[in-house]
Amino acid sequence: MVSFTLLSRVHAAPEGVTIIQALEYAGVRSPHGSSCRQGFCGACAMLCRFPGETEVRGVLGCQTLIVEGLDVCQVPHFPVNRADFDVTRPGEPGPVLKQLYPELDGCIHCGACNRACPVTLDVRGFVADLIAADLPAVARASDRCVSCGLCAARCPSGIAPYVVALQARRAEAYRSPRSPMLRERCDEIRAGRYDETLAELSLLAPEELKDCCAELRERAIASARRS
Ligand code: SF4
Ligand code: SF4
Ligand code: FES
Repeated sequence: MVSFTLLSRVHAAPEGVTIIQALEYAGVRSPHGSSCRQGFCGACAMLCRFPGETEVRGVLGCQTLIVEGLDVCQVPHFPVNRADFDVTRPGEPGPVLKQLYPELDGCIHCGACNRACPVTLDVRGFVADLIAADLPAVARASDRCVSCGLCAARCPSGIAPYVVALQARRAEAYRSPRSPMLRERCDEIRAGRYDETLAELSLLAPEELKDCCAELRERAIASARRS
């Protein structure tokens, strides 16, 4: 067993489990719960001080093993500026985002956001790209963001980098050329080509649906191998 601290209370959990599993073992309820358990959804974000380290690190509780002496802090909801941004409005979106988020100009380049990021993104770097209104660079640099919010919780200038970056990626996606195949498939869906199939699928029991998905997956893999 290993012991760890949460809000000044010492708990115990078996070795080799993740922080989320350790909290569950100890009967502690997470403020956000956890969802994917695969490092994608960001719901299990936490701030931790590892034994022997002087700095607090941001981690994903579902991807990090509990260790003896770990000091854990679950991050509750953190209030952020989330502006109403319409990607369809004409004009350059970069300057509009800068107007909607004037706090961007208060970035002091401290790098606290980088140190908090559990997926090791260069958050300070893409904040600089946001200030320069270089949205393609923001989209490239932030595409692995899991929206955990730890960067916002640590920023001394009140910036929520992940919120602005998400809107930048949406603007970029909206302005990017559409795939002709995607357009074709959407047209087919609108024209009702899959209505009958969807109606049949909706009548399947969960196990039958799982088998059906597994079969389709196998077919897709075989077809990808052939091409
Ligand atoms: S934590 Fe805030 S102020 Fe510091 S570099 Fe990141 S965005 Fe800038
Ligand atoms: S950029 Fe911010 S919200 Fe995105 S993963 Fe890193 S810390 Fe979390
Ligand atoms: S539960 Fe989704 S990232 Fe941890």
